[in-house]
Formats: sequence, C-alpha cells, structure tokens
Amino acid sequence: MDKLNFITEELDKLEEAGLLVQVRTIEGPQGAWIIIDGKKVLNLSSNNYLGFANNPELKSASQKAIETYGVGPAAVRTIAGTTSLHRELERKLAHFKGVEGSITFQSGFCANLAVIPAIVGKEDVVFSDELNHASIIDGCRLSKARVVRYEHCNPEDLRAKIHAEKDIRRKIIITDGVFSMEGDVAPLPEIANVAEEYEAITMVDDAHGEGVLGRSGRGIVDHFNLHGRIDIEMGTMSKAFGVVGGYIAGTKRLTDYLAQKGRPFLFSSAVTAADVAACIAAVDTLIASDALVKRLWENTSFFQEKMKQIGFNLGRTETPITPIMIGDAKKAGDFSQMLFKEGIFAQVIGYPTVPMGKARIRVMLSATHSEEDLTWAAECFEKIGKFLKIL
Ligand SMILES: Cc1ncc(COP(=O)(O)O)c(C=O)c1O
Repeated sequence: MDKLNFITEELDKLEEAGLLVQVRTIEGPQGAWIIIDGKKVLNLSSNNYLGFANNPELKSASQKAIETYGVGPAAVRTIAGTTSLHRELERKLAHFKGVEGSITFQSGFCANLAVIPAIVGKEDVVFSDELNHASIIDGCRLSKARVVRYEHCNPEDLRAKIHAEKDIRRKIIITDGVFSMEGDVAPLPEIANVAEEYEAITMVDDAHGEGVLGRSGRGIVDHFNLHGRIDIEMGTMSKAFGVVGGYIAGTKRLTDYLAQKGRPFLFSSAVTAADVAACIAAVDTLIASDALVKRLWENTSFFQEKMKQIGFNLGRTETPITPIMIGDAKKAGDFSQMLFKEGIFAQVIGYPTVPMGKARIRVMLSATHSEEDLTWAAECFEKIGKFLKIL
C-alpha cells in the first residue's frame, strides 16, 4: 500500500474545487512586462511596487557586494554570519523608520516567527485581527500564547474582547498595517488608543505599507504620525524594497533582545551580502526621492477609477493592492486564464489565502506601469468581465 496515497486524493480535491495553485515560471527580470512560458505579458501580480526588483542602482550595489564579500554567508548571524553590511542596513532601517534600532531576518515570514514567540508565551494573550497574514498566525502558534481574534479592522470589537480578559501576564495586539489580500489599512490610531487604555503591547506588520504609505514610503506608523506609540514594527524587504529579507524595528532594547531570542536569527543562516547591499541601496533611493512613491499612487488612482467606472467591485481597497472581487473560485480561475491568453498576468487568489467563496483576481499596481498599460488592462478586464457575466 502506498502510504502517501492521501496526497493524490488531496490534490484531486483541490483541483475539483478550482483551488489548485498555478505556479508560473518567470523567465527574466521583474518589471511592468515579463516573460512567462516564452510569452511577453503585462505583469499585474508582483509586489514590485517601485520597480526596485530590477533597479540599476540596486543591482550594481549587489554586484559590488559579491566582489567584496562573496556569495554565501557561511553561518548564522550569531556565529559568523554578521557582516558590516548587515549592521549598516540595520542602522539605515532604524533611521528610515524613525526608531532606535532594527534587526534583520531572512524574510518577513521569519521576522514574524522570530518576534512573536520571543515576546509572548503560554501565560499570555494575542489579540489578532481576523485577516492577519499567515506568518502572524504561525508566529502566534509557535508562541503557544492564547489567540483572541477580533473582527477585521474593528477597534470596538478589539476593546470589548480585551476588556473581557482579566489577570493576564502580557497582552499584545497584532495587526497587518495594509491587508495583503484586501488592500485596506488598519485603523492604527484607534488600535493604539485601545492598547494604551489596557496596557497592551502593539505590533504592526508593515509588509505592504513600506514604500507605499508615509513620507517617502516610511510606512503606516509615519502615515498616521504614531511615532513612539507602536512598540514593534515588522517589515519586509521583499515587496517595495524589491529584494528579500525581513526586519523588526523598535527600541534598542527590543532589537538587542531579539538578537538573543529570535530563533531564525540564532538558528538559520544570514541573508547574503548581495541581498543586504541591494536593500541598503533601496533605503538610500527612497530617502533621496519620493518620486516613485508618487508615481505608484498616480497609477493606483488611475487604474482603480477606471475599474470602478466599468463596474467592478474592488472591495475596500485604499492602497495599490487592487482586488477584483469575483467570489466563485472556478470563475476567478477562468478569468485569470483568459487574461493570460490576452497577454495579462493577474493571479487568482482563492482559499485558503482568502475565505471560501471570496475568490478574486488581485492586481498589484506598480510605479513601473504606464497609463497606456493600465488603460489596455482595464479594457481587457471589461471584455472578459462581460463575457463571464461578472459585469
Ligand atoms: C502582510 C505580510 N506579512 C508578511 C509577509 C511575509 O514576507 P516575506 O515575503 O518577506 O516573507 C507577507 C508576504 O507575503 C505579507 O503580505
């Protein structure tokens, strides 16, 4: 008997429900247009908000770092994997976010897995927005803390839930800053008020806020001018920064503590010098000019206005993350396939990334798109939307 037979059954079930994830292979650099299966397509799926993933300054910084430091870190950060570049990036990120310190990890996912179990344990409670990212959910699971989910972006529900809890050692409120599948922004000022009322620690995942919100893309805390009122800011270098890596920003005491307790920092090898150098160049480029952030927002208004005029439901987005709500997973899959045939790469997002029955095409806008690209894309969406009777 084949002990792994269940895998075939599970995969069949996913296929039947239209939930099998299609992994496309990209042949070349990221940009507004990319090559997939030998075909040039308009890229509406990457988190390359500012075009940094193929930016000449970032690439040249990486090439220089390889010449100086080689290609591999050869150790975890605490043993022999910390280079002067890692230190420089951490100083620059702290300056960029307006805090005392930052500590970097291999990815945003790792940053969440590092920080949550270091801050809370089984005596504690996490108050978590019900739509928080999977890496927050997994960080909470690893911590063994009890998790109380509050209604999405609802500070009143958060207040009621936190009020009902008594005699807890530590409380932490964790929220995505920008919700990655909806594009809406957490009500962080109201969350900070609740936290102060109940002496809870606050943590925000700014993965989709950096490079997008705040002055020159400094993120959600800067956007709401909440400096000093949010205890833990988590960020990623894999979206607007165009590279890879994650970090936690906050007080020096917090980052010193995570260097002792953050398990991915202690037990998984460091990010390569080439990646770190590109991240430094990304922060420098953002500090030098907000032109790309402005362009990203111009593109966002332009495309979202067009899509709303056509009659698409864009949910509650307030950012460049643009969900085109469809509902049925199969229909959403067909929509994405038909777009691809036209020459548009816009991935479908279904269960379990979003709740069952809430499938959507998620369009990610970028400063690299031209108005011509976006006008053409909206026309294709309209044609297919009418054909599939979504409009
Ligand atoms: C809200 C949020 N947090 C964390 C992550 C993980 O970041 P990374 O891709 O750097 O691991 C993502 C990326 O998908 C995200 O959208």
